[in-house]
Amino acid sequence: MTKKRILSGMRPTGKLHIGHYVGALENWIKLEDEYQSFHLIADYHVLTTNLDTSSVYQNTIEMVIDWLSCGLDPVKSPFFRQSQIKEHTELYLILSMLITKSRLERNPTIKDQIRELNIEQVTYGHLGYPVLQSADILLYKGDLVPVGEDQVPHVEITREVARKFNQQFGEVFPEPSPKLTKFARLSGLDGNAKMSKSLNNTLLLSDDPDTVIKKMKKAKTDPQKVRRNDPGRPEICLVYTFHEKFNEENTAEIAEGCRSGALGCVDCKMQCSAKINEFLSPLIEKRNYFENHIAEVEEIIADGENRGKAIAMATMEEVHAVMKFG
Ligand code: TRP
Repeated sequence: MTKKRILSGMRPTGKLHIGHYVGALENWIKLEDEYQSFHLIADYHVLTTNLDTSSVYQNTIEMVIDWLSCGLDPVKSPFFRQSQIKEHTELYLILSMLITKSRLERNPTIKDQIRELNIEQVTYGHLGYPVLQSADILLYKGDLVPVGEDQVPHVEITREVARKFNQQFGEVFPEPSPKLTKFARLSGLDGNAKMSKSLNNTLLLSDDPDTVIKKMKKAKTDPQKVRRNDPGRPEICLVYTFHEKFNEENTAEIAEGCRSGALGCVDCKMQCSAKINEFLSPLIEKRNYFENHIAEVEEIIADGENRGKAIAMATMEEVHAVMKFG
């Protein structure tokens, strides 16, 4: 039986943080055996919110090094850039005829972005973000798309355009489903619900042990626990969520120490940092290797682009055939 296909993608924003690992990469890695996966580098999508393209390439390399360091396997699952496989833009154009402007204006993800980034006038391309994403998914006939909650509306739009295409021209595309990540999100070190580079509240996958300790020391804890012996509330403490993820075997003990007051925040943070550093240490070792072998990283991407391109071309041939083009 042929494996179902997964299309997973990320915009290249540079070095990744542990929230990316917990919310996405860990899951992508797990799914690589059961499914045929494709890992998309959504470099054109960067343009929707940022026209300065000067660091897109460097950011792509940094992101791919993090992917490799975490254990994504480019032999099993090709890595490729949207910008290098022209079929993405071709299918994007065709799909853009199959969805209305008002449907795209109702997309809650874009509404949030407009609010968060204070965008006054939204561009045609930004409005079309989910249409490009639909092309990304449908080109490879993805059955499943691993995403967080915020991307579910985009998968819904993908289903709609796939259905519309199939009805209008002929059955070419499967309707993909979102595959939600369980441990969806780690909060930022400042207590913000989102860990994000722009909020400067992250732990990077590439942070060295001292940096992790330094950042952790500043992390927000239960405001009621001021002194060491004060009882704390692990259930509202951000550092505790990091214990749950990276120090699972000791959570009961940590919670107990926090509640009774026996464990102070400084000690708790030191223990947590040690566990995180233990987790990061092999990643950093692999990162060092790839940083010194950039040509190898570039070859991995080039190979992924060859393999991706072959599938994309085959799909576009089917698309053109049912549309009676050529
Ligand atoms: N929109 C996704 C994000 O911001 C990135 C992305 C682009 C993507 N194309 C995709 C994700 C296709 C999954 C499938 O996270």
